[in-house]
Amino acid sequence: MILVTGATGNIGRALVEELRACGAGPLRGLTRDPARASFPEGVEPVVGDLADAASLGPALDGVRSLFLVPGMGSGSDAAVVDAARRAGVEHVVLVSSITVQTHPHLGPAAQHLVTEQLVKDGGTAWTVLRPTQFASNALWWAAAIRGHQPVRLPYADTGLPTIHPADIASVARAALVEARHRGRTYTLTGPERVTARQQVAAIAGALGREVPVAAVSREEAHRDMAPYLGDEVADAVLDVTGGDVNEELLRVHDTVERVTGFPARPFHRWAEENAAAFR
Ligand SMILES: NC(=O)c1ccc[n+]([C@@H]2O[C@H](COP(=O)([O-])OP(=O)(O)OC[C@H]3O[C@@H](n4cnc5c(N)ncnc54)[C@H](OP(=O)(O)O)[C@@H]3O)[C@@H](O)[C@H]2O)c1
Repeated sequence: MILVTGATGNIGRALVEELRACGAGPLRGLTRDPARASFPEGVEPVVGDLADAASLGPALDGVRSLFLVPGMGSGSDAAVVDAARRAGVEHVVLVSSITVQTHPHLGPAAQHLVTEQLVKDGGTAWTVLRPTQFASNALWWAAAIRGHQPVRLPYADTGLPTIHPADIASVARAALVEARHRGRTYTLTGPERVTARQQVAAIAGALGREVPVAAVSREEAHRDMAPYLGDEVADAVLDVTGGDVNEELLRVHDTVERVTGFPARPFHRWAEENAAAFR
């Protein structure tokens, strides 16, 4: 039995679909709200809250492999890893972040590193995935684009090798079903660098209309983001999207292709697949 956490999220949705399609065996998708979740046929929905490890008993029962999206509720990761070990889970595939290696001084990166260590010391086999920024972060612009407002960009021309979440899912699928990925840490990027301005242009292309861009200062962008993300995370996001990038964050890695056998998907593909969110 494989348990996918975050199964209604950007990575998890694609992962349950891939695991089902490749006949990976019995599958469960974790959600807090099964009434809202819709999983493909053959995926058993299971209720649980990662912020409350005691609620995960039914979800973890009989599970051998766990796909773990961390950081859902403060202090929850240690309890979740412990609950998994006690339930007899043999292998954990963990979503971490490239910022663990590029920006270890930032709070969210430090938290990911703590969780990596918890999983590595947690008594199960493990695989750690360190993706760069997700293409799906562009959904942050969806309300503005739907409302025909300009997209406010502080670092419009910084190109980063943004990754399609389905590529993280493809690597996770391989890690869950092929033993050779145990004990490995994978840095994951998209196939090329793409700037925020180019991302907006790709979305505009998918919509078939112009989408205006407005350059804003870091301070203005921080004011936009802080109410949703908090001060510290807003600052971290601004650093890693242009304010304080470094060579390692800019580098394109070919890990997706090496692990899955398929090249990583370009940003415009994500834009075409998700155009409806911007209409
Ligand atoms: N975005 C980036 O650029 C980036 C870069 C590197 C790493 N990361 C990491 O990637 C992860 C996010 O992955 P994602 O984008 O696939 O996730 P996501 O789409 O943001 O959401 C994941 C799912 O988690 C579930 N969830 C939220 N709180 C929960 C809780 N307390 N208990 C159980 N389930 C809960 C929600 O499902 P239900 O509502 O159905 O319960 C949600 O659909 C984070 O750990 C983040 O740090 C992100």
